[in-house]
Amino acid sequence: MALLSVLTPVLAVVLCLVIGFMLVRSRDTETTSTSPDKTKAASKANLRPWVDQDLQDDTESTAREDEDGDWVDSNEEEDLPHVPYSPKRYTEETMLERSKDFYTLMNQRRSVRFISPEPVPREVIDNVIRTAGTAPSGAHTEPWTFVVVSDTETKHQIRLIVEEEEEMNYRQRMGDKWVNDLAKLRTNWVKEYLDVAPYLVLIFKQTYGILPNSKKKTHYYNEISVSVSCGILLAALQNAGLVTVTSTPLNCGPQLRVLLKRPANEKLLMLLPVGYPASDATVPDLKRKPLDEIMVHM
Ligand SMILES: Cc1cc2nc3c(=O)[nH]c(=O)nc-3n(C[C@H](O)[C@H](O)[C@H](O)COP(=O)(O)O)c2cc1C
Repeated sequence: MALLSVLTPVLAVVLCLVIGFMLVRSRDTETTSTSPDKTKAASKANLRPWVDQDLQDDTESTAREDEDGDWVDSNEEEDLPHVPYSPKRYTEETMLERSKDFYTLMNQRRSVRFISPEPVPREVIDNVIRTAGTAPSGAHTEPWTFVVVSDTETKHQIRLIVEEEEEMNYRQRMGDKWVNDLAKLRTNWVKEYLDVAPYLVLIFKQTYGILPNSKKKTHYYNEISVSVSCGILLAALQNAGLVTVTSTPLNCGPQLRVLLKRPANEKLLMLLPVGYPASDATVPDLKRKPLDEIMVHM
């Protein structure tokens, strides 16, 4: 009995050590089981800083949202009638002429960073956005939202957000190689066009849809679909005689989404200032690759 009472404090210490050791081990196991993914994601982001954080998070949010089971089943969709389709056909001569004319028009498109404050009719912008909305989309989900901003104060708020992030991008995040690659284009973090252009068009991809009954709908290939519609939008602007500069402001997505009161399923893909070119606008004298460098014919 006496021996036991002498040994009690020793046993207590040993017991504490064992429990402490087990706790430390279990924490280590937890860390090592989650850290490779985190390390991989972090090093991937470091290697590819142009992949915006805001664009990277859709897989995660889809997986998380999946768990709450509030998704619409495909069999809930209505049966869709199919209708005859016979668009206008051209003669070969007309096709040749139209394809050449369209190429000539599009070959004149340039990214213009000097935009005139001159007003542009609102209806033209409406038609341009309508045209962008004709793009194909995965399972016809039309996963795009075009936010058109002409309000002076909102444009200025956008400029403040973009310039603050872009200064950090150029100074810290992009790295010497990227900054050097951009030097010839003379771009930097000062974006006067965000105040000056009569319209800013911010294009959001909807990572999933939200139906009137609050159920969520899968938006297949949403980023590719929205990118296709952006291409059509650029062509429509060119066709209307307007200019823009394609911009993908890195790390500004969440702040701009909140400023523009867009829901969490929408992620900023592109920001386009739109207007007429300034009378003293200049562009870098770039050359485009010839056909034989971009096409492989088999
Ligand atoms: C996905 C994408 C992102 C771009 N991001 C920017 C940008 O953030 N800032 C900018 O001034 N130009 C940006 N550009 C414009 C390119 O610099 C421009 O398209 C390229 O230099 C070719 O010139 P061009 O558009 O006049 O043919 C971007 C273009 C694309 C396609």
